[in-house]
Amino acid sequence: MRTLLKLLIGISVTLFTFSLIVAAVYSQLPSDAEAGLKYFNGDVAFKNGGPACISCHSISALDVSGGSVGPDLSRVLEKGKFTNFGGDVTKLKEYLSSPTTPTMKGVWSAAPLTSEEVNALASLLEYAFSQAPAGPSIEYGPPIYEFLFVTAAVAGLVVALLAYIFVLRRGG
Ligand code: HEC
Repeated sequence: MRTLLKLLIGISVTLFTFSLIVAAVYSQLPSDAEAGLKYFNGDVAFKNGGPACISCHSISALDVSGGSVGPDLSRVLEKGKFTNFGGDVTKLKEYLSSPTTPTMKGVWSAAPLTSEEVNALASLLEYAFSQAPAGPSIEYGPPIYEFLFVTAAVAGLVVALLAYIFVLRRGG
């Protein structure tokens, strides 16, 4: 009976620790970037009726694959193929509000993005850039949160084992 009780305590301590770790990891995920992704994918329509970005762009750093009419946007915050924002989010937002390159201009001058849409998309591209590895390589690994999730799971397992051993040791 007492052993069972100790086991239950051990398990609940473990689950609690694990959920704390997972919650900590998830709270780091920017929710405005998530809103941006919904616009990008076309899950949420643009107010002025513009086409979903994914019809022409991919963001390989986030495993988002779309059309290839426009360049991959993983690192566009730093330096794009046609733009050079130098890591300045304000410049990226200005561009999205009224694009200066020919195709983008043609598409978005007829159906401009709202400032809310621009902010969400800029957060998405900022997040994508934070996930893109440095250097000119186009080889992108999995998004960092997958890695963090696996790390959290392993940490939870280790804590589980330690808690279990600790409880058994104390009670005998
Ligand atoms: C009809 C196809 C099309 C759609 C839809 C589209 N783009 Fe583009 N985009 C392009 C093309 C083509 C370029 C290359 C520059 C040019 O010709 O305008 C580009 C360039 C860009 C650039 C600069 C890239 C660089 O490397 O310099 C950004 C940033 C961008 N687009 C963001 C977006 C976002 C965000 C959306 C959705 C709101 C979007 N685009 C929707 C075709 C598109």
